[in-house]
Amino acid sequence: MANIVEQAKELRKTWSGFWSSRVILTANNYRAFEHLKSPKTAQELSGILRTDRRATEMLLDALTGLGLLRKASLRYKNTSLARRFLTAESPFYQGDILRHADALWKNWSGLDEVVKTGKPHHVAHDHPSFIKGMHNLAVFKARKVINAVGLRGVKKVLDLGGGPGTYAMEMAKKGISVTLFDRQETVDIARSVIRRAGVRNRNIGFLQGDFLHDDIGRDYNLIFISQVLHSCSEEESLQLIEKSRDALNAGGRIVVQEFYLKKDRAHPASSALFSVNMLVNTPAGRCYSSSEIKKWLAKTGFRDIRNAMMDDTVLVFGKKEK
Ligand SMILES: C[S@@+](CC[C@H](N)C(=O)[O-])C[C@H]1O[C@@H](n2cnc3c(N)ncnc32)[C@H](O)[C@@H]1O
Repeated sequence: MANIVEQAKELRKTWSGFWSSRVILTANNYRAFEHLKSPKTAQELSGILRTDRRATEMLLDALTGLGLLRKASLRYKNTSLARRFLTAESPFYQGDILRHADALWKNWSGLDEVVKTGKPHHVAHDHPSFIKGMHNLAVFKARKVINAVGLRGVKKVLDLGGGPGTYAMEMAKKGISVTLFDRQETVDIARSVIRRAGVRNRNIGFLQGDFLHDDIGRDYNLIFISQVLHSCSEEESLQLIEKSRDALNAGGRIVVQEFYLKKDRAHPASSALFSVNMLVNTPAGRCYSSSEIKKWLAKTGFRDIRNAMMDDTVLVFGKKEK
């Protein structure tokens, strides 16, 4: 019986996860953590935010229970966790990816219908939060990933679907000339992220367009495609890899980064859930296993194909024949 009680508790923790999630997303939407750098009562905060006092107090109590606030003498203040990750001046700020998650919430709410029709329910999208959110996530791992990619002998790189430019900056810091290719609305955001990061962008150039239909340039020694294929169908992924092969110099390398997914497509659960995220938000995207990506590289003529595990992602390498 004890085992059954534990199992039921575990299941409840999984299905009720949205309660904690919603409380944090709502507090982040109101920029509550920016106001709680110094202690405030619920009444004071509701005055600033123009929210209901009772509702604000209950939200703040829940955030306190979750370890994001400290409560003393009816005043609430950020814990170090909230200070480090949820206030905008922190280099580890996660508020943009939380705002992106808030848009995803609205799309995921259509999952019942998506499962019936197989069609996405893409009703909400906050593009600046999505792109800056990619920066929130990549800052923790960009240096490690670029070290694993390896830049010896590399002069000219294409960062295809480079988003906010987190990886491009890491490569540019090493003196490599990087072209970031992305849609125009993303390139505009990348320019401002790079400016704000204080990285001298002498080594970073930009190309804007649709990578499936527009010219992506040529004569690259390395093409880096990070977290892009999961939004594409298998056919589009293959098309993009072929296009990359043609844009590389002889002997040039391709490196693909994607979430790690086992061949069973079910583990780790985070990647299987990310596939559902793509089901909800894109017409034909999903997570791909490294064996699928390796198969595409082999099919398009790459050699020396191998993969390397990062934390929750995998890098897949290939080389164009000389
Ligand atoms: C999930 S983000 C990854 C950003 C970055 N590579 C990273 O790993 O942090 C995917 C990027 O691909 C870009 N993208 C998606 N489809 C595209 C297309 N058809 N043409 C150009 N860029 C595209 C998006 O604008 C976005 O910046």
